[in-house]
Amino acid sequence: MGIALPVQARFLEPYLLDITRHTVFLPDLPPECEAMTVAHLTDLHRGPITPDEVIRQAIAATKALQPDVVMLTGDFVHSHHRDAAPLAEMLTELRPRLGLWGCLGNHDYGSSSQKLTAALAEGRVRMLRNTAAEITPGLWVAGVDDYQRGHPDPEAAMAPIPKGAAVIYLTHNPIGVFGCDRHAWLALAGHTHGGQIRIPGVTPRFPPGMKGFPYIAGWGVFDRARLYINRGVGMGMVPLRLNCRPEVALFTLRRGDALPVPAPGLVVRAFHGARRAAGKVRATARRAKQALRRAD
Ligand SMILES: [Fe+2]
Repeated sequence: MGIALPVQARFLEPYLLDITRHTVFLPDLPPECEAMTVAHLTDLHRGPITPDEVIRQAIAATKALQPDVVMLTGDFVHSHHRDAAPLAEMLTELRPRLGLWGCLGNHDYGSSSQKLTAALAEGRVRMLRNTAAEITPGLWVAGVDDYQRGHPDPEAAMAPIPKGAAVIYLTHNPIGVFGCDRHAWLALAGHTHGGQIRIPGVTPRFPPGMKGFPYIAGWGVFDRARLYINRGVGMGMVPLRLNCRPEVALFTLRRGDALPVPAPGLVVRAFHGARRAAGKVRATARRAKQALRRAD
C-alpha cells in the first residue's frame, strides 16, 4: 500500500488519458455550426517533467476524435522555447479543417514567448494574443494573454468580434473568464492541472495567480459565460498525477440557451472574493502595460 500510491502517481496515472465529452449550447451559434466538434488540449508542458509519450498519446487520441477545430490554452512548454519546435512537430499530426488555435500560458514566458510562438506556427498553431479571428462564418475564437506573465487585455481580444457572433474564448488562467462574463460564450481554460495531485483533506491546491477562485476543474457559470477548466495533459513541478487523470475534452456545439450539465460539487457561481482577486491581477497587468508604454 505504501509503495502502490507513489508507483500509481509516477508510472501509471500520467498515462491514463481521460477523454471527456460535453455538449455546449450557444445562443448565437450559426445553424451551419450545429453539431460542430471542438477538441480542447491544455498544459502539454513539453520539457523535462512530462514524458513525450504522454503528449503523443493525447495528440493521437485527439486525432482519432476527428474534431472540426482544436483549441490549446497555453503552457505548451515547461520552461524553454526550444521545446516548442519538437512539440510543433508532434502537433502536425493534427489537421482539423478549421485549424489549431491557441493562447499563451505562464510557462510559455520561461524564455522567449515570441520564439515559442514562431516555432508553434510551424505546427500550424495560430496564437491569439489579445485578439480574435473568425474561424468560420459567424463563429469566432478570441485569445487573451496570460494573466501572470503576459499583458492580458480582454477588451482588445474582443474588439474585432461583431455583435451577435458566437465566440469561444481562450484564457490560460481561469480568472480570465471575468474578461468575457457578460457574454453567453464558451470560455476554455487550463492552468490548474485539476490540482494534479489530489489527496483527500490535503490537496488539491490552487496554483499561483488564482487566489479566491471558487473551483479548480470542470464547469462553472459566470454571469452569462460558461467556463470549462480542463485538467490538462502534462505535469508541472513534479512528474506525478494522483486521482487526477490527464484530459482531452471534446465539445459538441449546439444552438440554444441551456447551461452545461454540472459535475456534482464543481459548478458554482463566481463570488465576490474571486472577482476581487481577478480585479487585483487585472490592475497589476494594467500597471505593467502603462510602465511599458512609458518605457517606449
Ligand atoms: Fe500548466
